[in-house]
Amino acid sequence: MGMYEDVFRASLEDPEGFWLGAAEGVDWEVAPSRALDSSGAPFYRWFPDGRLNVCFNALDRHVEAGRGEQPALIHDSPVTGTRRTYTYAELRDEVAAFAGALAGLGVGHGDRVVIYMPMVPEAAIAMLACARIGAVHSVVFGGFAPPELAVRIDDATPKVVVSASCGIEGKRVIPYKPLLDRAIELAAHKPQKRVILQRPQEQAELGPDDLDWADLVAAAPPAACLPVAATDPLYILYTSGTTGKPKGVVRDCGGCAVALHWSMGAVYDIGPGETMFTGSDVGWVVGHSYIVYGPLLAGATTVLYEGKPVGTPDAGQFWRVAAEHGVKTMFTAPTAFRAIRKEDPKGVLTADYDLSRLRYLFLAGERLDPETYHWASALLDIPVIDHWWQTETGWPIVANPVGIEAAPVKPGSPTRPLPGWDVRVLDPSGRPVPAGVDGAIVVKLPLPPGSLPTLWNDDARFVASYLSAYDGYYLTGDGGHIDEDGYVYVMGRTDDVINVAGHRLSTGSMEEALAAHPDVAECAVIGVADALKGQVPRGFVVLKAGTARDPREVEAELVRLVRERIGAVASLKEVAVVAALPKTRSGKILRKTMRGIADGLDEPIPSTVDDPTVIENLRPLLHRPDHTV
Ligand code: COA
Ligand code: AMP
Repeated sequence: MGMYEDVFRASLEDPEGFWLGAAEGVDWEVAPSRALDSSGAPFYRWFPDGRLNVCFNALDRHVEAGRGEQPALIHDSPVTGTRRTYTYAELRDEVAAFAGALAGLGVGHGDRVVIYMPMVPEAAIAMLACARIGAVHSVVFGGFAPPELAVRIDDATPKVVVSASCGIEGKRVIPYKPLLDRAIELAAHKPQKRVILQRPQEQAELGPDDLDWADLVAAAPPAACLPVAATDPLYILYTSGTTGKPKGVVRDCGGCAVALHWSMGAVYDIGPGETMFTGSDVGWVVGHSYIVYGPLLAGATTVLYEGKPVGTPDAGQFWRVAAEHGVKTMFTAPTAFRAIRKEDPKGVLTADYDLSRLRYLFLAGERLDPETYHWASALLDIPVIDHWWQTETGWPIVANPVGIEAAPVKPGSPTRPLPGWDVRVLDPSGRPVPAGVDGAIVVKLPLPPGSLPTLWNDDARFVASYLSAYDGYYLTGDGGHIDEDGYVYVMGRTDDVINVAGHRLSTGSMEEALAAHPDVAECAVIGVADALKGQVPRGFVVLKAGTARDPREVEAELVRLVRERIGAVASLKEVAVVAALPKTRSGKILRKTMRGIADGLDEPIPSTVDDPTVIENLRPLLHRPDHTV
């Protein structure tokens, strides 16, 4: 039996022993005497009597162990033409100073801080500073518009919001401060203070409740690490669900530290002193886990990259970063590689760089299409590893754990479940399906440490969203199958969540935005295949009877409306005014049928359809062969 099987079996047969063993990889103020508390099932708590500080584990302990002069974080920003390296000692001092500044503003244990920032080192510093004083951060992706930020502010009720004067998208400077001001105007909850990092590209005008980051830090005494309960929240990260109200995924301190630390070696084969580059954004879970916490918990060097993989200045930036910083493991979304391939199909730009230290490419966030897999494998001649996980799980569910034992790759599959994850595929009645047959991918409870214990202030929604479909199982929301070798195949979401350029979005929230237009009677937004972004949303609306407006004008207004309400990141560029939407006889819009036709599948027309001619009329508009991946 191979190493993987041994470790996997041990994790499921003796989770207590397995995770207490993994817990030895982090430093505890009070070491846990047991791993799992099931007394409140289906709410499980990991390391219930342990106490620790995650920031101490990410920074101070490495300094104390003599790694103070080692690079901890490299900010590499082609869009500003700057690079800056922070050693562990420097990063600890910057974090302690900002933690002191937050404490000075009255932020303490359990208080929330919303962070709305571009990819600057101060975003990671703010996160770690919260962890240092036991506060709970909630990072909101910079591409979200003010109403989305406002919803998150209202749910998290932060004492302080931390932001920057601007972000940079390619050659465009995007002022953040007006977006923040608008969000606070819209929100019912008013944070007491906003801390603004002034960037040279665009200075913000500060109001009476705004504080300049630099001034604040200069005046603040550094804060020490506050040990907290392992079950205390480290952060809240909002993610898209079926409706417009995002779900506040909670991550607890002990589970997060143990699982991420363990995954760095077992999955990504990264140890102290080695360099990981994760091309994502701190606003997403990938950024939380593998730009900030994971690499730092492991005593490794992390690259925080500000820019796109293509464009400014060219499609060779990921290769440059890998060569310049001696990256061993690179992690990004397949869409980034599709973008690079589109610009540089032969990969000639790799010739400019020494990639000999690059050992692995990990990809996640959306389905890895075989073409991209083969292109990247042939170009880099290193293992290209697809792996599957979610904001909720915090770390990978299914992967090829090269740090334990590399398995042969089957293109199209992210390989096998990782230790801790008891993955099953069930049919609608809850029975396991045979190998190779599609069904709902679920995970038998309890989920391992590092995954969500609940939703912020909403235990009921946690149960309703994830635990009620199949008793004793967590519903991932993805469909797929497991083959006879135990390889998992993830075929796509079974709900209204779509993945656009690796960004998770809700078609439900886009529909809510469209429905707010005064001329719209009803609407449907579906995710359709896209050669670059994997999926893009497309909207279909029926106008109110008697509307005399030019449909083209309304379509343009609707595209603008979604951009204003959700953000540019929604990438809703096409909305079509149609005569009717296909429905069942009971009035349910046939979104799945529309999706199938749009993706060029041989989609059967359901027998429950009310009027088949509506579908036939829509067919030419739906199916666009040039869009199919
Ligand atoms: N702040 C403000 N605007 C933002 C933003 C941010 N942080 N992030 C994205 N946007 C804007 C973009 O500028 C773009 O605006 P536009 O419609 O005016 O051009 C829009 O949101 C859509 O962004 P995106 O979907 O990222 O498309 P893109 O064409 O700018 O870039 C890729 C496409 C594939 C290059 C890019 O998405 C990418 O590198 N993705 C892979 C990495 C990743 O982030 N993965 C996430 C999880 S692993
Ligand atoms: P997020 O919560 O933003 O990380 O998005 C999670 C969702 O992205 C999953 O539920 C999947 O639908 C999709 N996803 C992530 N990784 C993969 C992968 N390797 N293969 C297929 N889908 C993936």
